[in-house]
Amino acid sequence: MIIELSKVGKSYINPGTNIHRDVLADINFQVNSGDSIAIIGPSGSGKSTLLNIIGTLDTPSSGIVKFKGDDVVSFDEKRLAQVRNRNIGFVFQSHHLLPQLSLIENVLVPIIPNGKVNGKAISARAMELLDSVGLADRIHQRPGQLSGGECQRAALVRALINQPELILADEPTGSLDQDSAGQLGDLLLDINKKHNVAIVVVTHSLTLAEKMKSIYRLSHGKLE
Ligand SMILES: Nc1ncnc2c1ncn2[C@@H]1O[C@H](COP(=O)(O)OP(=O)(O)OP(=O)(O)O)[C@@H](O)[C@H]1O
Ligand SMILES: [Mg+2]
Repeated sequence: MIIELSKVGKSYINPGTNIHRDVLADINFQVNSGDSIAIIGPSGSGKSTLLNIIGTLDTPSSGIVKFKGDDVVSFDEKRLAQVRNRNIGFVFQSHHLLPQLSLIENVLVPIIPNGKVNGKAISARAMELLDSVGLADRIHQRPGQLSGGECQRAALVRALINQPELILADEPTGSLDQDSAGQLGDLLLDINKKHNVAIVVVTHSLTLAEKMKSIYRLSHGKLE
C-alpha cells in the first residue's frame, strides 16, 4: 500500500456567509503498487482537493492519510518534501515547465535536492525517458519552442525522473487536442505497466478514464 485515506473529510468556510461547506466527506481510498485509477466527477466536486490530499500537498479537515502505513500528520516539512520529491510525481493541466530552461534542464530540476544533477546515470536516464516520449531531438529547446503536447510529455518525464512509485495527474490532457491527449494517455499507461508506477488521474475525459483499471466517481463529497 502506498497511500491510504481513511474517513477523510475536507470542508471550507465561506468567508462572506460563514457557511461551512463539506467538499469531501468520509472518503476511504487506497493506492497500491501498480494501480491505475481514474477519478471523474463534475467541476467543483472536489477532485483536485482529493488529489492534493493524496499527494500530501493539502491536509484534510478530518480523517487519516497514511503513507506506507505511517500517518503523514507525524511527518515534518522535511520528510513531507522528501515524499513529494522522491515518491510521488505530479503532472498538472498546465505543464509548469520553466521557460528559461531547456527541456533537458527542466526534467532534471527535481534532481537538484539530491545534489547529483551532473551524474552520468541521471543524464542517461533523462535522455532515455525523453527518447521514450519522442523528444530525444528536442532536448536543447525551450518550452516556448515546443507544442503543448510536447511540453506535457516533458512534464511527465520530469515527474518520472526520481523514479516515483506514484504519479498523480490532474487533468493532464485538459489543454491538449484529441490526438495529443490520446498519446499522453497511452504514455501514462505504458509507464504504469513498464515501470510499475501507480497512477491516479483526475480527468473529464472518459476516453482517458476508461484506459485505467478502476474508475471512481466523486459526487456530493462521496467517492463511488
Ligand atoms: N481554498 C479554498 N477555499 C474555499 N473553497 C475552496 C478552496 N479550494 C477549493 N474550494 C472549493 O472546493 C470545491 C472543490 O474544488 P476542486 O478544485 O477540488 O474541484 P474539482 O472537482 O477539481 O473541479 P474542476 O473539475 O473544475 O477542476 C469547489 O467548490 C471550490 O470552490
Ligand atoms: Mg480540478
